[in-house]
Amino acid sequence: MKSVNDIKGRIFNDRSDRLLKEFPAECIDLVVTSPPYDDLRDYEGVASWDMEVFKTIARELYRVMKPGGVVVWVVGDKTLKGSKTLTSFKQALFFQEIGFDMYDVIIYEKAGSGPPHPNRYFNAFEYMFVLSKGRPKTVNILRDKPNKWAGCSTYGEVTRREKDGSLTNKGRKVISEFGVRTNIWRYANGRGFATKDKLAYKHPAIFPEKLAEDHIASWSDPGDLVLDPFGGSGTTAKAAQKMGREWVLIEAVKDYCEIARERLESIQNADSDN
Ligand SMILES: C[S@@+](CC[C@H](N)C(=O)[O-])C[C@H]1O[C@@H](n2cnc3c(N)ncnc32)[C@H](O)[C@@H]1O
Repeated sequence: MKSVNDIKGRIFNDRSDRLLKEFPAECIDLVVTSPPYDDLRDYEGVASWDMEVFKTIARELYRVMKPGGVVVWVVGDKTLKGSKTLTSFKQALFFQEIGFDMYDVIIYEKAGSGPPHPNRYFNAFEYMFVLSKGRPKTVNILRDKPNKWAGCSTYGEVTRREKDGSLTNKGRKVISEFGVRTNIWRYANGRGFATKDKLAYKHPAIFPEKLAEDHIASWSDPGDLVLDPFGGSGTTAKAAQKMGREWVLIEAVKDYCEIARERLESIQNADSDN
C-alpha cells in the first residue's frame, strides 16, 4: 500500500503483525484499540497472541503514527495461579522503551463488574494507556463532570499578579455547570449497555461505544484518520464515522469483519437518509 488513500475506510481481514508493515509511515492520527488479554479468549483460534506478536505490533504502531499521534491501549490482566499476570504493565513499559510517552493512564471503570470470586474483590476496571508519539497534537479536554456548586460564587476573590508584583482584584467567579472530568471514566458495559447494536454482541469482547467516542473526541479532530488494529466488531470505526473522522480497521477473524461491515453500513445508510 503506497498511500494513505489505499487504507482509508477499509476493513482488512488480516493480522496486524503482518499487515501494518505495509502501511505508509506517519499516516495515522489516533489509535483506539483493545488487544487480546493474555489468552483469556482464543478468537476462533485465528490469531496467536504472545509478547513477540505484541512487540511487532507496538513497533509498527510507532512507525505508522504521525508525530503527535496518540495510541489508546485498553487492556486488563488475567489471574494465573492466583497472581495477576501484569501483562498490561509489561506492554506499557515496552511502549515507553520504543519511544512512546505515557501521556496518561486512565481507568475504565465498569458499571457492571466481573463474576464474583469468594476470596477477591469484584474486578471492576481496566487500564486505558494513553500513549503519544511526542507531545500530543490534539487535546480536547472533556468538561462534563457536573459541578456540585454550579451557579454559586467562589468563596474567595480571584486575583491576578501583575508584572510589577501588585495584585489586581478580579472579584468572585461563578462556578460553571460542568468541570473537567477526572482520569477515571465510568461506562455501562455488558450486553445491552455497551451499544444498542444487537449485532455487535456476536463478538465476545466489545468495549462500549461511548468509550471509543470519548477518546476520539479527546485526541483527534474531524477529518483525522483513526486506526483500530484489533478491530473486532468495529466499535472504533463506527464511533469515528459518526464523529466525522476517517477510519481503518484490521481484524484477524473473518466473521468479526462481517459484523463490523454490517454495523458500518447501517450507520452509513442512516447518514445518507438524512
Ligand atoms: C478485545 S477484541 C476487540 C474488540 C473491539 N474493541 C470491539 O469493540 O469490538 C480483540 C480482537 O483482536 C483480534 N485479533 C487478535 N489478534 C489479532 C492480530 N494479530 N491482528 C488482528 N486482529 C487480531 C481478535 O480476533 C479480536 O476480535
